[in-house]
Amino acid sequence: MASERTLVLVKPDGVRRGLTGEVLRRIEAKGYRPVALELREATPELLAEHYAEHQGKPFYDPLVEFMLSGPVVAMVLEGERCIEGFRSLAGATDPTTAAPGSIRGDLGRDWGEKVQQNLVHGSDSPESAAREIGLWFPNLG
Ligand code: RTP
Ligand code: MG
Repeated sequence: MASERTLVLVKPDGVRRGLTGEVLRRIEAKGYRPVALELREATPELLAEHYAEHQGKPFYDPLVEFMLSGPVVAMVLEGERCIEGFRSLAGATDPTTAAPGSIRGDLGRDWGEKVQQNLVHGSDSPESAAREIGLWFPNLG
């Protein structure tokens, strides 16, 4: 399969906890290459588009509040099958039950908050990746 691209975010909990380097280490050790990377403050408008599929769900408002609670590190990764490959590196959504060895499984836990603080986001399909890369890095060639 041809090389593909995915959008990854180190969420505010990951940046706050000083885990950006650890996340990047795992990405680079796996062999995916960042082709864009930026420390960024999200905005309500950007998050409304990014999380459009979740609007109306009970966790939507706490999710947006969490994503606005500090800077994120946004990046575009490139590599063969990196969309599903990064999802596998990240692990399951719930960090308490995410498999050990994954980013969420090794570094995350339930903090008793209204929303899962699970360190990273990764696009879940080629369509999502194209849409999300366009939102976060509109000028990327
Ligand atoms: P992501 O989009 O961030 O890569 O995570 P995901 O695909 O594994 O999870 P998704 O279902 O897309 O949910 C998006 C994010 O919303 C928060 N969430 N909290 N019940 C909850 O408390 C809950 N459910 C979802 C998480 O931050 C999740 O990553
Ligand atoms: Mg998702």
